[in-house]
Amino acid sequence: MNSVYLNGKTLPIEEACVSVLDRGFLLGDGVYEVIPAYAGKLFRLDQHLERLNNSLGAIGIINPHTHGEWKTILQKLVTEHGTDDYSVYLQVTRGVAAKRDHVFPEEVIPTVFVMCNPIPPVDDTILQYGVTAITLDDIRWKRCDIKAITLLANVILKQEAHDADAAEAILIKDGMALEGAASNLFIVMKGKIITPPKSNQLLPGVTRDLVLELAEVNGIPFKERPVMKQELLNAQEIWLTSSTREILPVTKLDNERVNDGKPGAFWINMIDLYRQYKQQLKEMA
Ligand code: PDD
Repeated sequence: MNSVYLNGKTLPIEEACVSVLDRGFLLGDGVYEVIPAYAGKLFRLDQHLERLNNSLGAIGIINPHTHGEWKTILQKLVTEHGTDDYSVYLQVTRGVAAKRDHVFPEEVIPTVFVMCNPIPPVDDTILQYGVTAITLDDIRWKRCDIKAITLLANVILKQEAHDADAAEAILIKDGMALEGAASNLFIVMKGKIITPPKSNQLLPGVTRDLVLELAEVNGIPFKERPVMKQELLNAQEIWLTSSTREILPVTKLDNERVNDGKPGAFWINMIDLYRQYKQQLKEMA
């Protein structure tokens, strides 16, 4: 049985129902998080909950739960699922209003939904050969820092990548490469890891921050600065990071090989550090 959490109750997914008047359904009026859980332990939970709080604040929804309450809700559901690896999807919408209206309703209780989905292990061929990406014009809005459930632009962009047999679309705005349709972007240039700085144009990724933290702790040179599209084509390495796919090496971009077309030495080092960090978490009591 796949149980989910909905508004204070744990129930089988088939029985979890939300009103058609929910503003998430009608207007995409809500935010979400995707949190990995390895061996029953939530990964970088505090960082995910902080970003959730920021997203809720940005759209004027009062956080329906304290940090402690969120921890209890999420951990309980994860524990019920066992010790395989899961991605925990958490969604908060503004709630069910009396009628469809763009303006925020006066009194409304947010809808809280959480489900766990298995994380498939990263495919060996990806680790060996890397993935393909394409560049696409960034058609999204100006608040990409909010993890909003309103994902139509991302869906269209990701589908376009999928149709081109690519794992991801790298989004370009005003000549700058910002992030993937569902991931953050890193390049390696002249022995330095580079990632675009946080702004309203990209999601402040939790994996992104961890990669920078690991670089700092291990003395690997890095810089947060804008990345020009042109630089992508000349990069030593390109990586994409996200909670569900960790750090992916991009070895082909727009049908051209990235460097020698193989995952690079910086990525091999970083994925090793990332895995060690994960392992430590799994072993913690
Ligand atoms: N997406 N940028 C975008 C647009 C994203 O949607 C994501 C993650 C990221 C990476 O963030 P993080 O490292 O915190 O997962 C960057 C999730 C996984 C999703 O929508 O399913």
